[in-house]
Amino acid sequence: MKAPISAPLIAPSLLAADFTKLAQAVEAIDSSGAEWTHLDIMDGSFVPEISFGAKMVADLRPLTHSFFDVHLMTVHPENLIGGFARSGADNITFHLEAALHVHRILCAIKDLGKKAGISIVPSTPVEALAEILPFVDQVLVMTVNPGYGGQKLIPRCLEKVKELVRLREENAYSFLISVDGGVNPATASAVREAGADVLVTGEAFFKAAGKAAMAALLKGR
Ligand code: DX5
Ligand code: ZN
Repeated sequence: MKAPISAPLIAPSLLAADFTKLAQAVEAIDSSGAEWTHLDIMDGSFVPEISFGAKMVADLRPLTHSFFDVHLMTVHPENLIGGFARSGADNITFHLEAALHVHRILCAIKDLGKKAGISIVPSTPVEALAEILPFVDQVLVMTVNPGYGGQKLIPRCLEKVKELVRLREENAYSFLISVDGGVNPATASAVREAGADVLVTGEAFFKAAGKAAMAALLKGR
């Protein structure tokens, strides 16, 4: 008999919240039963838009015990990790496509006492991660092109999730696999079946009137 698959963690992205009401948004995440808070950092260079920076994260930190999952969509992530570590991030994920000395940056994040994640955009294959998979705590598979919330999930990207599950098993790696972009009630079951451990959700969560029900739906409960 197949072992029961445990429900994935839910990580609502504050990018989809009303920025004038972020304290309420954090409260809504907590009371929904979603385990993580996803913080999308956009620099206007790696992606066209600008979102918010480390001060925002630091200001939100005392309001919740939620795991702060920082997703840097920025060039030169090495320049930002100190600030985000001090702001209270629990995990800092940066993009493979934005960094040259990836292993050094992963080590620097861990030296700051934080979990270290790597992310790939839809056009980057899993093979490009081969040398660093032993060193990461999280692989964040982007299922949309980064830069905006509310886009449609690209189904082909879920093959990468399956490939990561396979590599993790074969090599006894321990990273979590997150899926980010276009996760909603229509796509969540395919994302779960591919093997994702963490589901990032922006629009689906923040547009939902019943956030606990939405979190449960995305978990497949
Ligand atoms: C995209 C961000 C995502 C995104 C998720 O650049 O990294 O976290 O906002 O939002 P939805 O679920 O609306 O695609
Ligand atoms: Zn994100």
